[in-house]
Amino acid sequence: MCPSSKTVVPMKLSGALDGVETVEITPDLGTEFPSLDLAEVLRRPNSDELIRDLAITICRRGVVAFRAQNNLTNELQKELLQRLGVLSGKPAGHGLSKHPMHIIRKDDPEIFLLDAAVQRATHEGNFGKKRQKGLREWHTDGSYEVCPPDFTSLRMTEVPATGGDTLFASGYELYDRLSEPYQRFFESLNAVHYVPPLEKAANTMPDVYRGPRGCPENVHMDFKQTHASISPVVRTHPVTGWKSLFAGGLHTRAIEGVTENEGQEIIDKISRLIVDNHDLQARVRWINPNDFVIWDNRCVFHCPTQDLDRQGRRLGYRCISVAEKPFLDPNSKSRWQAMEEEEAEEAARQKAAAAASAASAASAASAASAASAASAASAAVSPPAGPAMEAAPMVSAQA
Ligand SMILES: [Fe+2]
Repeated sequence: MCPSSKTVVPMKLSGALDGVETVEITPDLGTEFPSLDLAEVLRRPNSDELIRDLAITICRRGVVAFRAQNNLTNELQKELLQRLGVLSGKPAGHGLSKHPMHIIRKDDPEIFLLDAAVQRATHEGNFGKKRQKGLREWHTDGSYEVCPPDFTSLRMTEVPATGGDTLFASGYELYDRLSEPYQRFFESLNAVHYVPPLEKAANTMPDVYRGPRGCPENVHMDFKQTHASISPVVRTHPVTGWKSLFAGGLHTRAIEGVTENEGQEIIDKISRLIVDNHDLQARVRWINPNDFVIWDNRCVFHCPTQDLDRQGRRLGYRCISVAEKPFLDPNSKSRWQAMEEEEAEEAARQKAAAAASAASAASAASAASAASAASAASAAVSPPAGPAMEAAPMVSAQA
């Protein structure tokens, strides 16, 4: 069983990705790598260092996007996801998630086929054609599992003319926007995540996969967390050490220890915080075939956009890594707090470097001055060596 609590030591970037072109999508979340070829990165001699730093970047920024990854295959996508998880410390033996429904997993249970036409039919079945409740579609993948995912990747092989964007919202920022009393209150709560449509499908559809879904704990077929497997409403990210809200949206169905009505109010409050604050969201457009996005379900919520009428097909391949059981380290920090400390450390480092540089320059100037004086003194006592040297002692003697 995965540990349910631990003290986090944040992972630090090695600098392996320094110099790689990046664009920050918003100040608080999302980074795009416009020119990186991930298939090539996977084969570099220092690929472990690069992928480890990429994993830390995803954990800090929540979501990363890569354009036109035409050399990426399903097998390379699976390799990348597993290495991202392993190199950022996911539990030993945890692999890739397996989807139970054949309509999505097709022949490879670790690669999920996402067809927007199927999603749209489900959406209209759940919400109707006149879209008025987009907030209900915000979610984190696999939150009903005992050990939910860290990273989800999606490679869009067919993109629409426009539309079908994926939206992301920062769980770190949601936590930091709460007042301190609300932060303490939410830290005292646990949530039950449950997906009734998956349970219904597992009971009615043919060819359902019933084995472990990426780790031995993820085997329950009701897709509902029990008291033993519920998740904290505020979780500590094991890589950054930052606190993130981890409840709200589509799959959070109840809050333990409060009345049903109170639980729904808490879930609704978090969902409203997501949709009421567009400045903690990032929007990723699918522009080219094989645009590729990876997000960290431990610190971002996401939401599809159902605006694809007459826009063409949107088809992609998704692969998900399975991580630790969510936990809260009460001594962990918020992102704002950690960023302030990082900025203070950087300012102190720069100040120390400037002082060292100034001291070095002063020392060099002093040494040069001493050398000059020594040279002058030496010249003053040196006998003339010949006609060409005769003027120097005379000038020195005059000075
Ligand atoms: Fe999702």
